[in-house]
Amino acid sequence: MIGRHLLGVADLGGREGIEEILRLTDSFVEVSERAIPRVPALRGKTIAWLFYEDSTRTRLSFETAAKRLTADTMNFSVSSSSVKKGESLRDTAKTIEAMGIDAIVVRHASAGAPHRIAGWIDASVINGGDGWHEHPTQALLDCYTIRQHLGDVAGKRIAIVGDIKHSRVARSDVWAFTALGAEVTLVAPPTLLPPSLEGWPVKVSHDLDAVLPTVDVVYLLRMQRERMTEALLPSLREYTHTYGLTPRRAALLRSDALVMHPGPMNRGVEISAAVADLPRSVILDQVRNGVAVRMAVLYLLLGAGADRIILPEAEELSRA
Ligand code: NCD
Repeated sequence: MIGRHLLGVADLGGREGIEEILRLTDSFVEVSERAIPRVPALRGKTIAWLFYEDSTRTRLSFETAAKRLTADTMNFSVSSSSVKKGESLRDTAKTIEAMGIDAIVVRHASAGAPHRIAGWIDASVINGGDGWHEHPTQALLDCYTIRQHLGDVAGKRIAIVGDIKHSRVARSDVWAFTALGAEVTLVAPPTLLPPSLEGWPVKVSHDLDAVLPTVDVVYLLRMQRERMTEALLPSLREYTHTYGLTPRRAALLRSDALVMHPGPMNRGVEISAAVADLPRSVILDQVRNGVAVRMAVLYLLLGAGADRIILPEAEELSRA
C-alpha cells in the first residue's frame, strides 16, 4: 500500500501494491471514457507542479489527471520564477507549501531532489523524474499498458534497449517489471550501461537481433544526450545501425510482441518512423494510460488515505 509520498518504485509496496494500483487504474480508465470524464474525488485538494526539467507528457498527464479528479492545480514555471533569481530548492518548496498545497509533483535534473523536498515539507511529494534515478509513474503506466495488451506482466520477457545508463525510466521499469514477475534483458553497447549492474535483476546482451525473436516486449530508449558528459558513441548513425529498431529488425519480433517507448522519440535514431507507426507500437496507449494511472496515484495519496484497503468501484468514485 502506498504511503504519503511516491518517490520510487520501492514505495509502491511490491507486487501486491503495484497490482492494486493497476486495478484501481481500470476504474479511472472507465471514468476517462465517459462523456464528462470527471469525478469529484479530490475536490478541495490542491496540487502543485515543480518542474525544473522539460516535460511534455508527464506534466500534461498529471495536470489532466488532477483536473479529472476535480483537484485545484498550482502552476509553477521555473523559467519565469524566483529560481532564476537564485532561490534555493528548499526555499522554493517551502514557499509553495506555505500557500496551502496537498501534493507537489517534482521533476529535477538531480537524483534525490524529490526525496530532499519530502524531508522539508508536509505535503505529499511525487517524483516526476529525478536525474538518472527514478520515474515511478512511468513504470506504472508501462506495467498497465503491458497488462492491457498481453493480459499480465508476470512471465513476460522484456528487452529494454538503448541508453540505460542515463535513463530513470529504465531504472524504474526494471524494478516494477521484475516485481511483477517479468524477465528483463538490457540491450545496449557497454558504454551505455551503468558502470555496475550489481543487484540489478536483469540479463545483459549486446546483440539485439538475437534477443528480438525471444521477447514479448521491446522497450526503446532515447539517447539522452543532454545527460552525457562524454562521447559514449562513435556516432548516432553507428548506434542506429547496431541498435536501432528498423523495419528489418521489427520483422524478427514474434507476431504478438509489443514495441514501447516512453517518449520523446527520436524517429530515425532508436526507432524508425515506419516502426513507430506499426499497430504493434503501443506508444500512444502508454500516453493515454498515463492519465488514468496518475489519477489512481493521486487518488491513493490524497483521496483514499493511507489506510484504505478496499478499492472503490467506479460507481463509488462518481459519488465521492
Ligand atoms: C522520459 C523522461 O523525461 O524521463 N520521458 C518521459 O517522462 N516519458 C524519457 C526521456 O527523456 O527520454
